[in-house]
Formats: sequence, C-alpha cells, structure tokens
Amino acid sequence: MKKVLITGGAGFIGSHLVDYYIENHQVFVIDDLSMGNRLNLPDHTNLTFIEGDVCDESLLREIFTANKFEYIFHLAAVASVQDSIDRPQYTHKVNFDSTLMMLELTKEHQDKLKRFVFTSSAAVYGDLPTLPKTEDLAVLPKTPYAIDKYASERYVLSYSNLYNIPTSAVRFFNVYGPRQNPLSPYSGVISIITDKLKRAQSEETEFVLFGNGEQTRDFINVKDVINALVIVSQSYDSLGKVYNVGTGKPVALIDMMELYFSITGRKLVIINKPSRDGDIKESYASIKAIQNIGFEQKVTLEQGLEKYWNSVL
Ligand code: NAD
Ligand code: UD1
Repeated sequence: MKKVLITGGAGFIGSHLVDYYIENHQVFVIDDLSMGNRLNLPDHTNLTFIEGDVCDESLLREIFTANKFEYIFHLAAVASVQDSIDRPQYTHKVNFDSTLMMLELTKEHQDKLKRFVFTSSAAVYGDLPTLPKTEDLAVLPKTPYAIDKYASERYVLSYSNLYNIPTSAVRFFNVYGPRQNPLSPYSGVISIITDKLKRAQSEETEFVLFGNGEQTRDFINVKDVINALVIVSQSYDSLGKVYNVGTGKPVALIDMMELYFSITGRKLVIINKPSRDGDIKESYASIKAIQNIGFEQKVTLEQGLEKYWNSVL
C-alpha cells in the first residue's frame, strides 16, 4: 500500500486530510498534540500515529529511513499568529527549521516521492491594498508567523528548482469547518462563533465584534481545502509553484454572522470593540491559478455552515 506522511495530522485541517487518504493508503501522522487531538483521528489499521515533535531530527530520520513516502504534507505548525509574536524563537523552530530539516531528509529519501506539499498562509500578503490577492503580488509578511511561512514556502519551491525534488506550496485563506479548535481568542472566527452559538441555547452569550463587521474575508470550507491539496499534489503543472486556496469571494464578517444566525435560529449578544491592531480590512484570493489545474469550490458558505452546525449538535 502507498504511504503518505501528514505532519500535524491530528489538527484541524490535517485530520480531514487523514480521512481522505485512510481507506486506500498507509497514513503516517506525526503530531505533538500541542493543538491537535488524538480523538480527531480515526481508529483505523492503516493509520500509524507517532506522538512527537517535528523538530526532533533523529525521530524524523528514523521515520524517513523506515518508510518511502509517495506524498508528504507538511502541516505541523504553531498556527496562532499571536503565539508567534509572543514566542518568536520557539515558533521559528517549528514553523521554519522543521521545514528545512524535512526538505533535507526528503532529498535523501525521495525514491518514491510524488510530491512534498507545504501549507503556507494568506498572512504572507500582509495588508498591502491590492485585491484580489494573486500569487505573483508583492508580499509583506509582518509577523514571525508570516515571515516563517514565507521563508518556508520559498525554500520548499527552491528545492524543486535546485535539487529536482517534486514540491508545491499552498496559501490558505480563512479555513473553517468541524474540528477547528475554538479555545484561543485567536482561533478562526467561525469556530469561536460556533462554540458560542452552542452555549446560546441555555444562556445569553456574548460575542466581541472587533471593528464594524464590514471587514471581508475569503472563508473556505475544509472539504474544499482537502480537494485543493489533493489537486495540487497530483498536478504536473503545479511542480515548484505556490497556489492560493480560497473561494475568490469576499464575504463581510457581519453577513457571515447573519447567515449563521438564520441557519441556527440562534443569536449572540454583540459587544462592539475597536478593530484589532493590524486587522486587515479586506481580503480575498484570486483563485485563477488553482482553477486552471482543476479546482472548483463545491461547498457554499451556507452549506458549509449548516454542516458545521450539524456536526456540533
Ligand atoms: P492546527 O493547530 O489545528 O494544526 C496544526 C497541528 O500541528 C496541530 O495538531 C498541532 O498539535 C501540530 N503541531 C504543532 N507544533 C508541532 C510540533 N512541534 N511537532 C508536531 N506537531 C506539531 O491548525 P490548522 O488550522 O489545521 O493548520 C494546519 C496548517 O495550515 C498550519 O501549517 C497552518 O499554519 C496552516 N494554515 C491554516 C489556516 C487556517 O485558516 N486554519 C490558514 C493559513 C494557514
Ligand atoms: C487569518 C488567520 C491569520 C492570518 C490572517 C492573514 C486564522 C485563525 N487566522 O486572520 O493567521 O494572519 O488570516 O490574512 O485563520 N473577529 C472578531 N471577534 C472574534 C474573533 C475574530 O470580530 O472573537 C474578527 C477579527 O478581528 C477579523 C475577523 O473576525 O476581522 C476574522 O478573524 P480571524 O478568524 O481571526 O481571521 P483573520 O484575522 O483573517
């Protein structure tokens, strides 16, 4: 059976990728469970779960020596921007050093490799005003998280050109869906709202709205994200390239909230506060490049919110 390695596979997006491969592949997950959860993973004979740190070179070397992977998806990261601001040296190790180390190991063990995919972020664009965001725009990474994502992404793509290793990268916009951890104030806004709506049945529940709610985001359902990852990993054209992963449609935060309230039949008490420092007013992706290799959005925001809500009831 073909082997797939998914770092960060016990987390939100990684665990959905595990679900995609698990029936027909031998799936290896390495995750230190700092944010992920063992319960996100299926109980399946095709799964090998390794609780460990992606910065642990001897552990990674052992895994690469014992297995020849067809696909490697490097998702493990400290995904909180605020955490990267609070602990830049630590997050640099996880978000950058681990990528370079994995690339070197991949170089030594690439006999069966079809693709190494790295998951970068729309954060690399910073708050430059040009819209929509196209992959060839100038970038302005402003936080340790964004700087490490951009540097990692460049290394990953350069390994394709310099050493002929089959690599690609993706820049996720605002991903939402089941299993996204809502517990930090910097968790994705839809996971925070979902968590609060659950509680709104028995108690009046407050939601802090930063800004006037007219800020836009490109919310993409995790199912479409998995589809995008699979397409990028299988396309020949995507070798050595980076792709935006979004829907191409800006949605105002307040419109998303109204839609979610009407789907759930529940409301939150909105507490207005000033915008967060550095909050981006408008953000949405150009998805022409990924559409050209076969991607299309399948889950509308309404369908995605409905499914998410049903999964937490
Ligand atoms: P997540 O936090 O749910 O998943 C990341 C996983 O990595 C977690 O399970 C965590 O335990 C694991 N991890 C962290 N440090 C580790 C370490 N040192 N060793 C091993 N495992 C470690 O986040 P997610 O939303 O699923 O994000 C997946 C990837 O996509 C990340 O690289 C993130 O930066 C990127 N991304 C996500 C979004 C989004 O909207 N969710 C947007 C842009 C980019
Ligand atoms: C997202 C990423 C971030 C990245 C940025 C780049 C997530 C969780 N964060 O941030 O890593 O740097 O894209 O474009 O994916 N909001 C509230 N109340 C809340 C929480 C959020 O009003 O309780 C607002 C925020 O101020 C923001 C919007 O909702 O205006 C979306 O917030 P969030 O989900 O954190 O995503 P981004 O800020 O877009």
